[in-house]
Amino acid sequence: MKVASKPASVSQSLTPHDVARIRANFPILGERPHGKPLVFLDSAASSQKPVQVIEAMDDYYRRYHANIHRGIYHISELATEAYEEARSKVARFIGSPCAAECIFVRNATEGLNLVAYAWGRQHVGRGDVILLTEMEHHSNLVPWQILAQEREATLRFVPITKDGQLDLRSLDRLLAGAKIFAFTAVSNTLGTINPVTELAARAKSAGAVSVVDACQAVPRMPVDVTQWQCDFMAFSSHKMLGPTGIGVLWGRKELLDSMPPFLTGGGMINVVEYERSTYADVPARFEAGTPAIAEAVGLGAAVDYLQGIGMERVHNYEHELAQIALDKLGALSNVTIYGPGIEHRTGVISLTVGDIHAHDLASILDRLGICVRAGHHCNQPLMEKLGVPATTRASFYIYNTPEEIDLLVRGIEEAKRIFKIA
Ligand code: ALA
Repeated sequence: MKVASKPASVSQSLTPHDVARIRANFPILGERPHGKPLVFLDSAASSQKPVQVIEAMDDYYRRYHANIHRGIYHISELATEAYEEARSKVARFIGSPCAAECIFVRNATEGLNLVAYAWGRQHVGRGDVILLTEMEHHSNLVPWQILAQEREATLRFVPITKDGQLDLRSLDRLLAGAKIFAFTAVSNTLGTINPVTELAARAKSAGAVSVVDACQAVPRMPVDVTQWQCDFMAFSSHKMLGPTGIGVLWGRKELLDSMPPFLTGGGMINVVEYERSTYADVPARFEAGTPAIAEAVGLGAAVDYLQGIGMERVHNYEHELAQIALDKLGALSNVTIYGPGIEHRTGVISLTVGDIHAHDLASILDRLGICVRAGHHCNQPLMEKLGVPATTRASFYIYNTPEEIDLLVRGIEEAKRIFKIA
């Protein structure tokens, strides 16, 4: 299996030469939608895939596809090894001391549901508090709403400040009586980077477990669960160069060991009789049925690719792009940018342009080959809080360039001309 070689530069960010080399690994960047070069600014929704990931999955299907943990034959053993090796790579990538703490799920949403069902239904009862924040996207909101409704528990929310940061002044009061504090590490809409270590520590002092939605963090910054000291963390492969259909729930081993199964069936059992069954140890207990084997192989290749670059450099480069974008977009009249200043955010920028609807703006940009997300970003309550029906969101990643930000700026100017906005 080919892996990305470390770029020649050893700087703490990416040079234009590094970015050119990275771009050459992404076949899709050669596409020309509407006859224009593809400018992909929607990686917060789903990133593009390097050839190393595509080839790893192709190689698996061509040479050693078989079901895992079942076949007493060579290619099944190869597939099992590759699947478990992917788990070990993921564990090392997030600083987990134990690969069994990493459960392969379909995506972060399923990981968060797993915690809500398996841990939540065991521990949350009438009158208990589940603390969330006002910036959670639907994946880290709806599972807790359902748990709260079922258990007659109360939902509380950490408010956000005007500039889109968590307002922690009342955190201790909000945490009183909380069994769970679930929060995002990075807002998918505002780009805000939250102080995960502090939030997890304060949850712990209050006797609550911390559940971190790390969908927007793991792809773009160094993440170490031993430093965060959280209890659970979920993220998706498809936002970090890997395939769709697989994600990871990380949990502290003693918590996972104590939890009942979530989905049930083959693969998660120990002994099955007609009337009853016993369950496998983690991680198998939470991986019922044939898992996403090719996708695990692809995720492993994505981890190799990101590690080949270095997460510090990934983060710093995205920060540079965010700074350039904030400066250039902020200089445009009638453009409102949501979220905090550069020191507290990552390369996710939501904006509105005069009274142009986000969908109209995105359609104009699309005709110019520029892909952005427009709408509520799976974050309807936050839109209401911001007082807008929708925003247009540009998000940057390792394959984006400052020149692409210029194209975005020109596209927005074009939209303003069409809508006769100054
Ligand atoms: N949660 C994903 C996003 O932010 C889909 O776009």
